[in-house]
Amino acid sequence: MADDTKATKDSFTLTDNRTGTAYELPVHHATAGPDVIDVRKLYAETDCFTYDPGFTSTGSCESKITFIDGDKGVLLYRGIPIDELAEQSDFPETCYLLLYGELPTTEQKRKFENDITYHTMMHEQINYFFRGFRRDAHPMAVMCGVVGALSAFYHDSTDITDPKHRLVASYRMIAKMPTIAAMAYKFSIGQPFVYPRNDLRYAENFLHMMFSTPCETYRVNPVVARAMDRILILHADHEQNASTSTVRLAGSSGANPFACISAGIASLWGPAHGGANEAVLQMLQEIGSKDRIPEFLERAKDKNDPFRLMGFGHRVYKNYDPRAGVMRTSCHEVLAELGVNDPLLELALELERIALEDDYFKEKKLFPNVDFYSGIILKAMGFPTSMFTVLFAVARTVGWVAQWREMIADPDQKISRPRQLFTGVETRSYTPIGER
Ligand code: SDX
Repeated sequence: MADDTKATKDSFTLTDNRTGTAYELPVHHATAGPDVIDVRKLYAETDCFTYDPGFTSTGSCESKITFIDGDKGVLLYRGIPIDELAEQSDFPETCYLLLYGELPTTEQKRKFENDITYHTMMHEQINYFFRGFRRDAHPMAVMCGVVGALSAFYHDSTDITDPKHRLVASYRMIAKMPTIAAMAYKFSIGQPFVYPRNDLRYAENFLHMMFSTPCETYRVNPVVARAMDRILILHADHEQNASTSTVRLAGSSGANPFACISAGIASLWGPAHGGANEAVLQMLQEIGSKDRIPEFLERAKDKNDPFRLMGFGHRVYKNYDPRAGVMRTSCHEVLAELGVNDPLLELALELERIALEDDYFKEKKLFPNVDFYSGIILKAMGFPTSMFTVLFAVARTVGWVAQWREMIADPDQKISRPRQLFTGVETRSYTPIGER
């Protein structure tokens, strides 16, 4: 963090009108986006906390990884626009960029992909771990459990004070998430687990583990593999979203990386966050036909109705989510390649058109987000709805790991321990039960 500024133009003056006392709060300047007011000394000087439920105006950390301009609909990974990466890069290269801050050279990329590839296999004992779950368990529940349990298998990469442990744990998480995700799927349909293959690249290997069987040769469709790789890029990181903040907070206590990633998976599962892609498909199936769109839009506007238009709106984007645009293009490509004519796509396009013309959605700046189209592509690729958020977790693991590593290395980092506005009952004495 930059040195504390003096009480000059690089500060805010905060006046307590109850006492007339003025306080100088340092301002730290961003290279892009809003500057921040440093309130770390506020409680010590004013005996007051800041209050910001949901952290709508709070910067929780300093980061150099991902930048979002919500008003312009801009998303940059280490300064590179997401649409350029989606078009010209691939997921392993994007992982390297997020982790190390620069695009890799040819040799760096080869070595990184090789290192990740040789961590894709799981400890064989973990196969038995799956048998503790019901076959109909939601795969996100399985992911939370299995990923959290990895610290019971990989003791040689849980010491967060050891840089080598941190590196090995980071690579293990990125490498093993597709394997665990595919195992969760195979377990749910009663098919045998498929081992990763070292001759396949990341996205192809994942599709191979998901959809091949021992009974016949499985050929990965290159268009589907490219779409999978692009979907992984689009979901890889997104600044301090709920699940990333969960990973950072868990990590701030010194918890092992597997436990932190498991906590991130749990947070991502929520329908307001990563669970929205599954909820979008369920919503489109409930709407069923274009003539019912107005009915559901009215429900979305009704404060007394808990229904939200899933896949719409965002805490940060008050413009089109740039990922949604790339996702919509991929949707058309994949469905055309697979010869899939999914009426849900037509329904989604019409819903988007009507919503974007609606005054309520325009006034509240509610645009499609990354989850609006992803479910339609994934359904066409053969993924069951219950696996949609699992795919989000597979992709976001590199972002969680990169942000966790940045937090561990941050000299300003300390255990995250927010305070509160207490409005409960004041001090009172215990009343014996006979006198109540
Ligand atoms: C992701 O944070 C990230 O970066 C997340 C993510 C990532 O990559 O990590 O981008 C991934 O989680 C995308 C978001 C997926 N979730 C959904 O699609 C669920 C539907 N969206 C809403 O639940 C909502 O928009 C949120 C949760 C995404 C954002 O919540 P906010 O910023 O807290 O917005 P809000 O609830 O305060 O809404 C502001 C207003 C409210 O009306 P008022 O109270 O001001 O009258 O807009 C309304 C809301 O009622 N509103 C919606 C709406 N989203 C917001 N009304 C109808 N339908 C919606 N989808």
